[in-house]
Amino acid sequence: MSEALNYQAGFGNQHVTEAVAGSLPVGRNSPQQVAHGLYAELLSGAAFTAPRAENLRTWMYRRQPSVVVGSYQPLSHDFLKTGAAEGQAAPPDPLRWAPSAIPEARSDFVAGLRTLVVNGDPDAQVGMAAHLYLANASMERSAFVNADGELLIVPQQGALRITTELGRLDVKPGEIALIPRGLAFKVAVDGPSRGYICENYGAPFRLPELGPIGSNGLANPRDFLAPVAHFEAEAGAYEIIKKFGGKLWRAEQGHTPFNVVAWHGNLTPYKYDTAHFMTIGSISFDHPDPSIFTVLTSPSDTAGWANVDFVIFPPRWMVAEDTFRPPWYHRNVMSEFMGLVLGQYDAKPEGFKPGGSSLHNAYVPHGPDTEAFAKASSVDLAPHKLDHTLAFMFETRWRLLPTEFALNGGALETSYVQCWSGLQDRFSA
Ligand SMILES: [Fe+2]
Repeated sequence: MSEALNYQAGFGNQHVTEAVAGSLPVGRNSPQQVAHGLYAELLSGAAFTAPRAENLRTWMYRRQPSVVVGSYQPLSHDFLKTGAAEGQAAPPDPLRWAPSAIPEARSDFVAGLRTLVVNGDPDAQVGMAAHLYLANASMERSAFVNADGELLIVPQQGALRITTELGRLDVKPGEIALIPRGLAFKVAVDGPSRGYICENYGAPFRLPELGPIGSNGLANPRDFLAPVAHFEAEAGAYEIIKKFGGKLWRAEQGHTPFNVVAWHGNLTPYKYDTAHFMTIGSISFDHPDPSIFTVLTSPSDTAGWANVDFVIFPPRWMVAEDTFRPPWYHRNVMSEFMGLVLGQYDAKPEGFKPGGSSLHNAYVPHGPDTEAFAKASSVDLAPHKLDHTLAFMFETRWRLLPTEFALNGGALETSYVQCWSGLQDRFSA
């Protein structure tokens, strides 16, 4: 992975790129003959008649079209689950999981998928799943296509090289990657690797509106990086694994799917470095709502009620006066799946480990543990920097159901609710 990759900056831009000069048609998308004997193929990420601002599509010019593939056969996977129908009934308790160990046995990105929570239904284009990936091997002559949802990948340990039909992305912890629904990709690792994935069945992730914040701030569009065109030259067979209707399917073809020589369009994979997130916070008093930390949002059909928001808690200064600075105790209509990439989370300074996860479902009360409450209630409120930390949340309007693996896979911390048991009745009239 030593070769540094090139990128094209800008979220939602109509990117234009060719790996061989003269491959892109000029002035038309599908000429009678494409240069260099290439085939034209369209990938749509929106209905053709979606409003212009939401329309996503990319034209690819490739050595063979993706229809040249063998027939698909079912492929079993014990730990990959889809939709509320594959979730388990669970009590309305706060749930938390310790970091899952990366297996010793060979495990690539697809084999290492472990679904923790699910909601919705990909056929209804509603909801999401949160998965872990636990990988120690690269996908070599194997590619993955997810027809059920786009994938937001949040590495926690280990750098990834993600090869897609539209080019390559190098992504390390602190960065994220976004892979459009229906786009083939494979993942190479450089050692034991772990991370989180939001599989989004709903509207594609986009940047949130900024309202009174204005035209700058939070995640700026230019910091999202799309790949440049790149194709694999090596001949030989490939395995294509497709997630389609909640199941995995496998086919073999005689050539690489990474054979796109040129492309143009606004439906692309991206990487984004969370260090570029311009954080907004209180400079007077009170703990603001976490919506100020939204990086990307997948709206539902009700304004403001996200199908899923991707929210980060990055390093930032805490300066609010006369304020309990961590999140207060709360219970919300939205459901919160959290992960920790590195460092400490201020509401759970010791109990929540990097690589761990938590679920605070709709109307499940939660907040700072006993230790965090005691400290934040009495600490000197000088300006203080929360540093070396990155927590995140997948927040969704639909209740999340844990999977069988989440409940019985060994990482569930059954003593989690005890972290609040020391909060005494201190009332005195
Ligand atoms: Fe919360």
